[in-house]
Amino acid sequence: MKKKLTFLGIETSCDETAASVVREKSDGTGEILSNVVSSQIQEHKEFGGVVPEIAARAHVEKIEFVIKKAINESNLNLKNLDGIAATAGPGLIVCLTVGLNIGKAIAGSLNKPLLAVNHLEGHALSPKINKKIEFPYLLLLISGGHTQFLQVNGVNNYKRLGTTIDDALGEAFDKTAKLLGIEFPGGPKIEEWARKGNENYFELPKPILKRGGCNLSFAGLKTAVLKISKNLKNKEEKYHLAASFQKTINEILYEKTNIAMKEFLKVIRNKKNTFVIAGGVAANLSIRENLTKLSRENQFSPIFPPTNLCSDNAAMIAWAGIERFKINLVDNLEFPSKARWPLDSSAPFLKGPGLKL
Ligand code: KG4
Ligand code: ZN
Repeated sequence: MKKKLTFLGIETSCDETAASVVREKSDGTGEILSNVVSSQIQEHKEFGGVVPEIAARAHVEKIEFVIKKAINESNLNLKNLDGIAATAGPGLIVCLTVGLNIGKAIAGSLNKPLLAVNHLEGHALSPKINKKIEFPYLLLLISGGHTQFLQVNGVNNYKRLGTTIDDALGEAFDKTAKLLGIEFPGGPKIEEWARKGNENYFELPKPILKRGGCNLSFAGLKTAVLKISKNLKNKEEKYHLAASFQKTINEILYEKTNIAMKEFLKVIRNKKNTFVIAGGVAANLSIRENLTKLSRENQFSPIFPPTNLCSDNAAMIAWAGIERFKINLVDNLEFPSKARWPLDSSAPFLKGPGLKL
């Protein structure tokens, strides 16, 4: 019988310092032996967003402790590992370098393989840790840094169907929250306030709803929210704006996901189609309900990985390392950190004003 692989994962691409030990199980899924995440929300709160220098310093201060804790909690020691996987991009270079360098140091000193993992591949494969899912599947990644539809054909094999051309969805939630006086990251509070408001109170724009395929845009929506937020009369109106914003997001996601599903079905003929929704924003219950309903209408089975695997974590990095190692992909110790690193290198760069969609 083939040996079951055990990997250490390290994640420092943005504002979470994380380490995790994951072991393959005989049924092809994974067992998370430890999953340590140290969040920097407190450090960035007063600035209303992630400050790169502060994030990098916090990673340097915490990374050793976080890795030791992950190893201790797994009841293994470094010698038991079959490989080290560290996020190498995309993200803030000053942050990525902290985790990648320590990953290289551990791999180099123990003479174990190093896997330089794309953070987005970590998200894309994360649902496979605790559920057997056949390739290909459709993925919607909605986080503070990314918003993409991906056709996940296999390990190291992705087709981007759509992307945001400006803000990420979590960013749109956080910016709206900030305008309403809510602390960073405000997504969860917007969801809470939305429940108390009237979602039909304000009419908000849905940028590029009827064009651009399943690409998305949230910048115009943010501008509209900014204008309205200046003239709010009372707390009730804040709740109404939160509710109207969330309803508008749901309408955009419904329309765009519908297009993504149709595009997926044009080329893929599975007996059973799977739609995975990952990233921090996938915690939002109204978005879950909305996308579950659409999935049923289009005969997709929706999968929402548990929240601790949806938001940034190192278990998904360890797992991506295992999956890559199994198809003989290994990286050398010179592998650089990459600020930009698309999963589908053939897809055009779609960001900035004046884009023709
Ligand atoms: O994936 P994640 O933990 O970190 C990265 O950005 O990579 O996502 C964090 C984002 C933040 O923008 C946060 O406001 C948003 O996810 N978020 C939510 C909810 N929970 C977290 N947005 C809307 N509703 C929620 N319940
Ligand atoms: Zn992420």
